[in-house]
Amino acid sequence: MSQVTKIATPFQLMPDLPAWEFTALKESIKQHGVIIPIVRDENGTIIDGHHRDRACHELKIKDVPTITLAGLTDEQKRDHALVLNLVRRKITRKQMRAIISSELRRTPDISNQWLAEIVGSTDKTIQSVRKELITASEIPSLDAYRAKDGKRYPATRLYTERLKQSDRVRSALATLGDDAPRKPVSLKLLEREAKNKERTSQIRGRYRKPAEHAQVRLYHSTFQKLESVAQIEEDSVDLVLTDVPYNREFTQQFDDLAEFTARVLKHGGVFAVYVGVIQVADAIKSFARHLDYQATSFSSWLGAGPVIQPLQCVTQTTPILVFSKGKWTRTTRWYNCFHNSVAEQDLHEWQKPISDTEHWLLSFSDQDDLICDPCAGSGSTALACHRNERRFVGCDCDRDAIRLAQTRLSNEMTTKIKTTKLSLGKR
Ligand SMILES: C[S@@+](CC[C@H](N)C(=O)[O-])C[C@H]1O[C@@H](n2cnc3c(N)ncnc32)[C@H](O)[C@@H]1O
Repeated sequence: MSQVTKIATPFQLMPDLPAWEFTALKESIKQHGVIIPIVRDENGTIIDGHHRDRACHELKIKDVPTITLAGLTDEQKRDHALVLNLVRRKITRKQMRAIISSELRRTPDISNQWLAEIVGSTDKTIQSVRKELITASEIPSLDAYRAKDGKRYPATRLYTERLKQSDRVRSALATLGDDAPRKPVSLKLLEREAKNKERTSQIRGRYRKPAEHAQVRLYHSTFQKLESVAQIEEDSVDLVLTDVPYNREFTQQFDDLAEFTARVLKHGGVFAVYVGVIQVADAIKSFARHLDYQATSFSSWLGAGPVIQPLQCVTQTTPILVFSKGKWTRTTRWYNCFHNSVAEQDLHEWQKPISDTEHWLLSFSDQDDLICDPCAGSGSTALACHRNERRFVGCDCDRDAIRLAQTRLSNEMTTKIKTTKLSLGKR
C-alpha cells in the first residue's frame, strides 16, 4: 500500500485544519520536508499525520518519514491519535467538548478519569458533557464504568524514511502477525524474523528418531545429552566438525563443548569449529584446556558480511579453529582458507554453503570415518558426510532445525542428486 494513497481514516478524531493552517503546513513541508513523522499501523492506516499525508499527496512527495506501530488495539490507536493531536493543537473549549462528546458516544462506559487522561481534560468537564448526553438520551446512564486496566500493550515500533522501506515494513509485519517483536526494532531485524518464520513454516515432516545403525543420525537434543541419546562411546569419533552460534551467550557453553569433544574424539582426532570473530579469544582459551590448539583457518566471501559493533568491522571471513586430541597424526595436506563464491541460506539463518563444509570435512577426515556435529543446524555437515561416504552423528537443540535437516537429507537420498566431489583444497 502506498504511503500517499487515500485510505480510510478511522483515527482522524480531530476536525480538519482550517484552510489557511493547512496551506501554511503545506508550504512548510515544501520548504523543510516532513519534520514530524507520520504514524501508521501495520496495515498502513494513519494513526497520526492525516494533514501531513494529504499535504505530501498534493505536493507529490513520496518518501515520507514514517513510524509504524504494530500490535496495538483500535482503542490504543485512538488514544494515541488523540493524545498526539491534543498535545500539538490549541483546542478551544467548544472543540474539546465536541471531542469528549464523540468519544462518550463511541464508548459510553469509559470512566471519566480515564477519558480525562486521554484527552487532557478534567473529570469535571467529562462529567458535565456526559450529563448533557444522558439528558438528551444520546447515551445511557450506567451503574459502573470501565476503568483503565493498568496493563501495557507494547507495540512493534519502526522508523523509516523511504516509501519502499515502509512497504517492506508492512510486508514483514504481515508475515510475522502476532509474532512481531513488541519493541522498537530495525527493518533489518524485522525482515530477518519474517524470513525465519517463512523458513520454519516451509518445513515439512515430523522429527524421527534415527535408526541405531543408520549411516547418518540426526537427533533432536542438546549436545550436552547427545552421548547418552545417541549412544556415542568415548574415543570413537574421528572428527568433530561444527559451527556454533556466533553470540556471547553461546560462549558460556564453550567449556561444555570442549569437554564433550575431548571425551568422544579418538586420540589424534580433529576438532574443527567455526566461531564468530568476537569469540576467538574465549574459544581458544576454553578449547585449549581440553585439546591441543593447532591452527586458525578461514572461510571467506566477497561482499559485505555482518558489521561488528562498535568496531565498525565489516566481516568477510569466519575463523575456523583447529585442535587435535593429543598429537597431530594426519598426513593429508590441507589449505587453511576456503573462498565462497555463493551464499546458501535458503534453509537456515546460519546455514553454511555445502562446498565450504565439504572443504573442511575432506581436509580432516577419511572415507568411512565417524564425524560428529553437535550444533548441526540445517544439517550441512550431515549432508556433506552423506555425499562423501562418511558416517555421521549429530544434533541440534532446535527441533525445527532438525526436522529441516532430516527432510533435507531424505530429499537428497530420494532424488539421488549427482554430486561432484570437490578436490581437496579447491578454492
Ligand atoms: C550456527 S548454527 C549451525 C548452522 C549449520 N552450520 C548449518 O549449516 O545449518 C548453530 C546451531 O547450534 C544450535 N545450538 C545452540 N546451542 C546448542 C546446544 N547446546 N546443543 C545443540 N545445539 C545447539 C542452534 O540451535 C543452531 O541451530
